[in-house]
Amino acid sequence: MSIEIEQPSCVELSKVAVSETHGENSPYFAGWKAYDEDPYDESNNPSGIIQMGLAENQVSFDLLEEYLEQHSEAFIWGKRAPGFRENALFQDYHGLKSLRQAMTSFMEQIRGGRAKFDPDRVVLTAGATAANELLTFILADPGDALLVPTPYYPGFDRDLRWRTGVKIVPIHCDSSNSFQITQQAMEAAYKEAEAMNTKVRGILITNPSNPLGATIQRSVLEEILDFATHKNIHLISDEIYSGSAFSSSEFTSIAEILESRQYKNSERVHIVYSLSKDLGLPGFRVGTIYSYNDKVVATARRMSSFTLISSQTQHLLASMLSNKKFTENYIKTNRERLRKRHEMIIEGLKRAGIECLKGNAGLFCWMNLSPLLEEQKREGELALWDYIVNEVKLNISPGSSCHCAEPGWFRVCFANMSEQTLEIALKRIQDFMQQRKRKKVDIF
Ligand SMILES: Cc1ncc(COP(=O)(O)O)c(C=O)c1O
Repeated sequence: MSIEIEQPSCVELSKVAVSETHGENSPYFAGWKAYDEDPYDESNNPSGIIQMGLAENQVSFDLLEEYLEQHSEAFIWGKRAPGFRENALFQDYHGLKSLRQAMTSFMEQIRGGRAKFDPDRVVLTAGATAANELLTFILADPGDALLVPTPYYPGFDRDLRWRTGVKIVPIHCDSSNSFQITQQAMEAAYKEAEAMNTKVRGILITNPSNPLGATIQRSVLEEILDFATHKNIHLISDEIYSGSAFSSSEFTSIAEILESRQYKNSERVHIVYSLSKDLGLPGFRVGTIYSYNDKVVATARRMSSFTLISSQTQHLLASMLSNKKFTENYIKTNRERLRKRHEMIIEGLKRAGIECLKGNAGLFCWMNLSPLLEEQKREGELALWDYIVNEVKLNISPGSSCHCAEPGWFRVCFANMSEQTLEIALKRIQDFMQQRKRKKVDIF
């Protein structure tokens, strides 16, 4: 039983603690809450809400489990596999060299061997959440801004702003060019920051980690790097879904661009990576900052003291990721399975009469329900979202929670459930669309 204590109102907390910049007042999190209160379960709650707002990758757990069954040395210590004491005492903020090496070779493999990474530039962090916040602390002062293209991952409102005091200025992208980032949009955001007397310190792109489920084209990446160079600002590339691109050739890392330019202007570039999406291990909290700037590497390493990864987890992953046979098979199979899931949801939505943005990566698709809105406004989008969560019983994320300025778009996750559950979700959407056609549903 919890201890209930009367809460006095006169004890003050810090400005950070009481600030609203935690970003949790968003339909993105409200949808999770609705799911938590009525979660779908095939046998115990078949009419509950299906969670399609959580970008988890559960399609390849069997491969991880198979590896662990065959390689107990990765996690067992004792007479047969010594090292427990050293590992229990290990807390060096450089992290295990074996993990940094294994991580860089995994990052290279995902990029089809087209980019090289140096283990000495890897700073280990407790997930990409910590990596993004840590970089923001290092690159910007309170009141400064980062430019972030929309739609963006709603967690950035917390990760980049809350504790750092840094602002986000959105780079507005829209459906007219499939939400690609343009020179004009970057310039417009930069000017907006200037008009607010806000110093822009960097641009943060998510490739292919944005809610679109699509990679950024090489030519666009070149333009973004040129823009950052021209404005003399930093470029953070969050590449945490890189292994979810349907093939390595469909994904270009900023690392490849730098290599092709002989690392000119690379000191402003920082890559964020984590195993939360590619290996489906968000609970393990394993992320990295890979920076081409020596000072950033040194500072990030010192600061990583606040967000270290347990040495036990480091040991397990060093063993798993340094096994080439395992990683090759994992990357290939995981990609095939994600692609198949993607086809399944796109087909199912098409049958319901719904179009999605053409995607080639990620654990979700970007669905267009704008034809269903009577008024092309955020309020209309949220009314539709409310109906879909509470009546159709699917938790999807409205575009406005990703700061998309164009109403009617939704992010829909498909890799955090079984194929059977996905089929049920698709059936619910198809039924809803049928009912709407017959004018039986009056929501707006
Ligand atoms: C673009 C992006 N960056 C960072 C994160 C956080 O990842 P992690 O679990 O590694 O902290 C997420 C999680 O959804 C994400 O989508």
